[in-house]
Amino acid sequence: MDGNGRWAERRGRPRWMGHVAGAHAVRRVVEYAARAAVEQLTLYAFSSDNWNRPVEEVGTLFDLFDSHLRTQTDRLARQGIRLQVIGRRDRLPLALRGAISAAEARTSAGRRMTLRVAIDYSSRAAILASLPTAAALHGTPQGETLLPPVDLLVRTGGERRLSDFLLWESAYAELAFLDVLWPDIGTAHLDALFADYAARDRRFGALPQRATA
Ligand code: IPE
Ligand code: MG
Repeated sequence: MDGNGRWAERRGRPRWMGHVAGAHAVRRVVEYAARAAVEQLTLYAFSSDNWNRPVEEVGTLFDLFDSHLRTQTDRLARQGIRLQVIGRRDRLPLALRGAISAAEARTSAGRRMTLRVAIDYSSRAAILASLPTAAALHGTPQGETLLPPVDLLVRTGGERRLSDFLLWESAYAELAFLDVLWPDIGTAHLDALFADYAARDRRFGALPQRATA
C-alpha cells in the first residue's frame, strides 16, 4: 500500500491525512476482495524499515492501526474474515499488541477469507527466522514464519520494487504495479487486476498448456 503521503501532499494536507484516507481504502479493498472470493489477502501496512520515518508519523500509523482494529473487528467477524497480524510484535506499543491479540481471537473462526496485516514486517527476517540455526543464533522474534505462496502481488503508488515483502512466498507470484495512489484505489481497479491475473499463463517453469496438448 503505497502513496498515502503523496495523496495528502497533492491536496495540500499533512501526510497523516493520507494515512487516514489509506485506512478507508483498506476497508474498501478488504470487503471487495472477500466478496470476490479471494481466500487470502495480505496487506503491507508497516515495514521494519518504516521505523526510519519521523516518530510522529510512526505514532500516527500505530494510532490508526489501533483504532481501526478496535472499531472494525466486529465487522470482520460478521463477514467471516479472519485477521492475522504478521511481523514482530515486541517493538509495538503495548496497547496495540493487546488490540491485535483481541482482534485475532475475536475473528479466529472466520473461514471466508484470511486477512493478514504485516506490521513491523521484514521478509528477510522472516526467512532467517524460519531457519532453525539462524533463529537460534539471532533469536529473531518474528511472529510468523513462512506463508503460503502468493498468486498476485500488487504494489500501488508507482514504485516498481518489492521492499522486503513476501520475498520467499512470491517466488512465482504474478506482479502488478499500479500508478494509482493507495487512497484512490477502488473496486474498478480490483476488477481490472483480477481480469489481468485471470488472463496470465502461469507455467511454474513448465511448458504452456497448448504445447503439452
Ligand atoms: C503508505 O504510503 C505506506 C505506509 C507505510 C503506511 P506512503 O506513506 O509510503 O506514501 P508516499 O510514498 O509518501 O506517498
Ligand atoms: Mg511510499
